[in-house]
Amino acid sequence: MRGRLVAGNWKCNGNLGANQALLAALRDGLAQLRGVECSVCVPYPYLTQAQQALTGSTTVWGGQDLSQFGAGAYTGAVSADMLVEFGCRHAVVGHSERRSIFGESDAVVAAKFEVALKAGLTPILCVGETLQERESNVTEAVVGRQLAAVIDKSGVAALGKAVVAYEPVWAIGTGKTATPQQAQAVHAFIRGSVAAQDRALADGLRILYGGSVKASNAAELFTMNDIDGGLIGGASLVAEEFLAICRAAERR
Ligand code: PGA
Repeated sequence: MRGRLVAGNWKCNGNLGANQALLAALRDGLAQLRGVECSVCVPYPYLTQAQQALTGSTTVWGGQDLSQFGAGAYTGAVSADMLVEFGCRHAVVGHSERRSIFGESDAVVAAKFEVALKAGLTPILCVGETLQERESNVTEAVVGRQLAAVIDKSGVAALGKAVVAYEPVWAIGTGKTATPQQAQAVHAFIRGSVAAQDRALADGLRILYGGSVKASNAAELFTMNDIDGGLIGGASLVAEEFLAICRAAERR
């Protein structure tokens, strides 16, 4: 049976005081969970704080992005090795906000995925369609293309050390969650696409759902066969909400 993962994506939120309280609550509240790994992907300046608060706990942490380059003349960039130095387990790659606001192409996302993997991080590769794409019935084409960009560059076996997150852009931060059936359909498509190349790998691949997951809808989403956890934005900033979502993902 696949283990589950619930990862918080704080985006550009937080401050030292609020983070301290939130991280302490996660450290205590997530200690007893079974069958689910919990992670928080925090803004770069707070990686030390997350590392100090969570070292020795069952909760891991990560970055929300990383540079496609290694060390060098890349002003403003943060390399995979730097994330590793701060104890990161995960790096979110290809979030739709990175793709749309910061102009990251499939090729850039694939390059970031590869450097994350080479550094020993577990990339959380985000894929997902916009509302317009969904309404034009090209969801599978879009998600398939985003996935293929990574497989073409790194090989399908690379997915064995990664996590995929299906995040319909129209559901992110909008309060509109995909129905469990809508999410399941795309998750099954993703698993099926990978299975066409490597069935065993596809069976073990964790595919998270992201997009307005809350304590009130998490349990229903997690009943779906191909939903192996969540990537949580807004609700990951509220300790009780995030703890409840992690509990809903438990496998006992
Ligand atoms: P949301 O964000 O939970 O606030 O919709 C999810 C994400 O962007 O990862």
